[in-house]
Amino acid sequence: MKSRVLSGVQPSGNLHIGNYLGALSNWVKIQYDYESIFCIVDLHAITVYQNPDELRAKIRELAALFLACGIDPKHSKIVVQSTVQAHSELAWLLTCVTPMGWLERMTQFKAKSAAQESVGDGLFQYPVLMAADILLYQAGIVPVGEDQMQHLELARDIAQRFNSLYGDTFVMPATKLPAVGARVMGFDDPTAKMSKSAAGSGHAVALLDPPDRIRKTIMRATTDSNPAVDFETMGPGVQNLLTVYQAFAEWSNDQMQAHFAGMRYGDLKKQVAEMVVSKLEPIQQRYQEIVAEPGYLDGIIRQGAEAVTPIANSTVELVKLRMGIYTAA
Ligand code: TYM
Repeated sequence: MKSRVLSGVQPSGNLHIGNYLGALSNWVKIQYDYESIFCIVDLHAITVYQNPDELRAKIRELAALFLACGIDPKHSKIVVQSTVQAHSELAWLLTCVTPMGWLERMTQFKAKSAAQESVGDGLFQYPVLMAADILLYQAGIVPVGEDQMQHLELARDIAQRFNSLYGDTFVMPATKLPAVGARVMGFDDPTAKMSKSAAGSGHAVALLDPPDRIRKTIMRATTDSNPAVDFETMGPGVQNLLTVYQAFAEWSNDQMQAHFAGMRYGDLKKQVAEMVVSKLEPIQQRYQEIVAEPGYLDGIIRQGAEAVTPIANSTVELVKLRMGIYTAA
């Protein structure tokens, strides 16, 4: 049996080039090497308040974007998390073996809870649900951006703790980061990670941004006081622009140095903007085609759930058996 790949994206905010370079483009590249499952994690999205109508629309938008980016539904499964009940069930079972101290250490929880007036318990439990997403399918490989590394370490800790308490049950999932683009920074502030929720134009390039807007965001990007690209002394803003170019172009470090060393920032930005526009154009075109086909997305989402539910249910059955809770004799 091929080993399994699993990853997920929250259907909140607008999918941006950080999500693409950190996660989706990597999924597309490796999908055929494994049995692949890609989730739209709507149960994670509601750990902070979401407008219901907007959330419903975002789930569909994200499914269409997965396809537009190149996820092949004939091979890979696209799963809306809430359509497979075992995600919630395993999350509870794992909650019972997860020490609170482990969750208190999560940096994303600290950052997100600091930004909320009232913090729901779901936000605290968030990484346990994420561990359940992965362990439910005995996934061996989880392709994500750098910001998810701590959550994945926790997933392994939970798996290990369960295995040692109840006997070998879960496969240990390995984190897979992209070689370039594991942490794309905001164009307005290159010391902060590009984020779906960060407000304000100038911060992110969304996958569905029109070309003019993409150009405007990148031309306005924060750089530094050098006049031109110097690989020895460049600041984080220039570094980030080069990273974005390199990840899209799939160039080596040598190619990057040969092409960009000494280039003035205005020209650098123009080249980055044109690279991003040219790579997003076909994705945007496919996206429009997909959403124009009524019923197509729902079919894909239904097929995804049907294909993975038996795997998920059998894991939950095994976990229940191991834990000694009621299963019919
Ligand atoms: P989410 O929705 O925040 O992000 C989706 C993916 O995009 C990556 N990413 C980035 N990569 C590079 N640069 C950035 N600025 C950047 N911002 C985001 C993320 O690392 C992620 O791979 N908790 C997850 C969703 C999740 C999940 C899972 C992932 C739920 N269950 C199981 C893997 C396996 C999240 O919030 O991703």
